[in-house]
Amino acid sequence: MSMNSLTSDFRYFDEAPPERDAPAPSAARASAGVEPQSVHLRFSGLGKRYEGAQGAVQALRGIDLAVRRGEIFGIIGRSGAGKSSLLRTINRLEQPSEGQVLIDGEDIGSYDSERLVALRRRIGMIFQHFNLLSAKTVGENVELPLRVAGVPRERRQRKVEEVLRLVGLESKRDAYPAQLSGGQKQRVGIARALVHDPQILLCDEATSALDPETTQSILALLREINRRLRLTIVLITHEMEVIREICDRVAVLEHGELVEQGPIWQVFGAPRHPATRTLLAPLQQKLPEDLLGQLQNGRRQPNDRLLLELRYTGASDREPDLAGLGAHLGGRVTLLQGGVERIQGRTLGQLLLAVADTPLAAEALRRQALELADSVEVLGYVAAA
Ligand SMILES: Nc1ncnc2c1ncn2[C@@H]1O[C@H](COP(=O)(O)OP(=O)(O)O)[C@@H](O)[C@H]1O
Ligand SMILES: [Mg+2]
Repeated sequence: MSMNSLTSDFRYFDEAPPERDAPAPSAARASAGVEPQSVHLRFSGLGKRYEGAQGAVQALRGIDLAVRRGEIFGIIGRSGAGKSSLLRTINRLEQPSEGQVLIDGEDIGSYDSERLVALRRRIGMIFQHFNLLSAKTVGENVELPLRVAGVPRERRQRKVEEVLRLVGLESKRDAYPAQLSGGQKQRVGIARALVHDPQILLCDEATSALDPETTQSILALLREINRRLRLTIVLITHEMEVIREICDRVAVLEHGELVEQGPIWQVFGAPRHPATRTLLAPLQQKLPEDLLGQLQNGRRQPNDRLLLELRYTGASDREPDLAGLGAHLGGRVTLLQGGVERIQGRTLGQLLLAVADTPLAAEALRRQALELADSVEVLGYVAAA
């Protein structure tokens, strides 16, 4: 059973999260462990304000963030958190109100229109609803940015063929978007985004309109082009499974502020900020209703079972040691539910154990279990099975 097949948020995040990096001044935090030479993209003190009819909206404030060359960087946050605004400052579809966006160390805010055109060719973008022209064929859609750029016909043809092959659509060149499935339309979107050999690919909810199976195939394609073309990918999504599947690191936005960032295993294994915990709650298991209903603080009958929740956060190299748990807890240990998975080579998960027929008291059991897990919570006693 995997963690994501279990739902809700029972207790998973109740206790104080483990200490991670100490608070740092914003310049240092911008790097967050990213070596200066590997930085591809940097936001520095970035703010964005929209002046609307109902007054101003501060969509982003004080964003300091570095994205490494060649990584897949995820941005998550609830609707309205500022994800799209942040992504769109990277190719200056949105102009920052404060601060800077630096690409390869250059402040793109200083670019004149000519350099801006060149910049936008170095940055591909794909969208939730694909943004294809319905009256044009697949080949024509992909060719369009090359036409606009004044690329000669022969080179255009060659490039269109090349990118359609890359996304597995060489046979659909003369088809119209209406004849394609959602997944195929997004492949056309990806092909079109790649015609200028970009160094950065921006994905705004690129799989959100697709069914789970198609999502998997698009993610596999993004992974492949990330590796083959050494492309830096910045993607925003509200689908946590997408982040877990392909991102290297993730940042969390809440009300326009950056509230948490780190490698996937770290943020998913031990989320610190309440906003992150809320976003990840659907991936966590909960205590089943029947057990919740009979949970009691003390042992009432000699054969009552103590429920323990063990957590593996990836912070240590601990893995669920089944024989060790049996030996350490000194009684009959039953696994009631649980899920463990490997993310970025780390073991993450939770186990709900029932311990019966043990001479040990709750606190002693907790301490014993803590030698074999990253955290342990005593939930209480339930009646014998
Ligand atoms: N063009 C705009 N004009 C006015 N307000 C906007 C505009 N675009 C976004 N906003 C507002 O900025 C905030 C952040 O929006 P957005 O970046 O789209 O968030 P997300 O992508 O996380 O849902 C929201 O409150 C949204 O209503
Ligand atoms: Mg958005």
